[in-house]
Amino acid sequence: MASLNQMSSLELKNLKDELLKKYDEFKGRNLKLDMSRGKPSVSQLDLSVGMMDCLTSKDDFKTADGTDARNYAIFDGISEAKKLFADILGVSSSEIIVGGNSSLNLMYDTVQRALQFGVAGSECPWNKLDKVKFLCPSPGYDRHFAICELFGIEMITVPMTESGPDMDVVEELVASDEQIKGIWCVPMYSNPDGITYSDDTVKRFAALKSAAADFRIFWDNAYCVHHLSDDQDHLLNLMDECKKVGTQDRVFMFASTSKVSFAGAGVAALAASENNLAFIKKQLSIQTIGHDKVNQLRHMRFFKDLEYLKNHMEKHAEIIKPKFDMVLTWLNKEIAPLEIASWKNPKGGYFVSVNTLEGCAKRTVELCKQAGVVLTPAGATFPYGNDPQDSNIRIAPTFPPVSELDLAMELFCLCIKIASVEKLLNQ
Ligand SMILES: Cc1ncc(COP(=O)(O)O)c(C=O)c1O
Repeated sequence: MASLNQMSSLELKNLKDELLKKYDEFKGRNLKLDMSRGKPSVSQLDLSVGMMDCLTSKDDFKTADGTDARNYAIFDGISEAKKLFADILGVSSSEIIVGGNSSLNLMYDTVQRALQFGVAGSECPWNKLDKVKFLCPSPGYDRHFAICELFGIEMITVPMTESGPDMDVVEELVASDEQIKGIWCVPMYSNPDGITYSDDTVKRFAALKSAAADFRIFWDNAYCVHHLSDDQDHLLNLMDECKKVGTQDRVFMFASTSKVSFAGAGVAALAASENNLAFIKKQLSIQTIGHDKVNQLRHMRFFKDLEYLKNHMEKHAEIIKPKFDMVLTWLNKEIAPLEIASWKNPKGGYFVSVNTLEGCAKRTVELCKQAGVVLTPAGATFPYGNDPQDSNIRIAPTFPPVSELDLAMELFCLCIKIASVEKLLNQ
């Protein structure tokens, strides 16, 4: 089929009738499929079930330093879990706090703590200020934006480029506006674009001149071990770069095993300078006597070290790579010739980010929904749920079985075509 832009109105009208006929057939099938959230599939979760046999006898619960993991103690994580996260994030164990199962929870707490108590070195609580603003590279992770919205932090959209956030914009805003206290970053296989920040971008983050002395980078490295094949991206270590220029106190890094072991029962960690951690620990030691150390120990017995964990991630890749391939095959076959959308070809992470013609994302998602396929709401990847181009759609291919994904993608392509034809006919 030729590019839709080159079709006459008559051709477009005929095409629309043809597409709607197919769409009605789809509706008649009463589908109930979900590509909305980046969840591991059942077979991915099954990869880690062996973990449940790692602690079986009463003698299994001693941590490396002899603590009984079943009892109170160690509010900031057992030493072996600190070591594993230190290796994952490329910092030292003394720069790690191990939390509960969710890194999002750690991010929320970190923002809330800053609002209530300030941050190390500047103990003016952000809540005491007239206004607090965060930069939000977009498209980005909707739950980062939801945290800001909940706390009344004003969000400023920063465009994403192929090498990360547009650093010219970031540098100018951070240097000129004291109310900008933070920026959300998913530096590797970003959600949803699958972009990994270039070395230059990471260096520029380390060297940022900030108007606010208490500016912080929220470096959510959720997908740092989530490659789809041997053809992998590489991310420069922000903490190392910051140390070279003396800005290590401006970084909060986050990671978890949610998509390594169990999304609902993994282990999460926060990495930051010892200075930052000393400040945080004062409050954390009041908040908890300790997170679930039995789960931490179970994870460490199962994963052993970073090498073993990387091998385990290859098994995940074997399961999910065919799903990514299927999404891309459908897009390349059905959409590319029509020139009505563009997309990224990620080397890792959990999403495929599709950009429709301007004004077609909401309509596409709605059409899919009416025919039984749920997608992330259009706009969710932008602050306040507002995609100014109404163009970005996030596809999460990991959860559905391949057969369902096949069907869902066929419908998705059909819906993009309908939305695009409608737009062109209205022009
Ligand atoms: C970028 C990013 N950060 C964090 C999370 C959630 O992580 P956790 O399960 O550790 O809270 C997700 C989940 O999709 C994510 O995409």
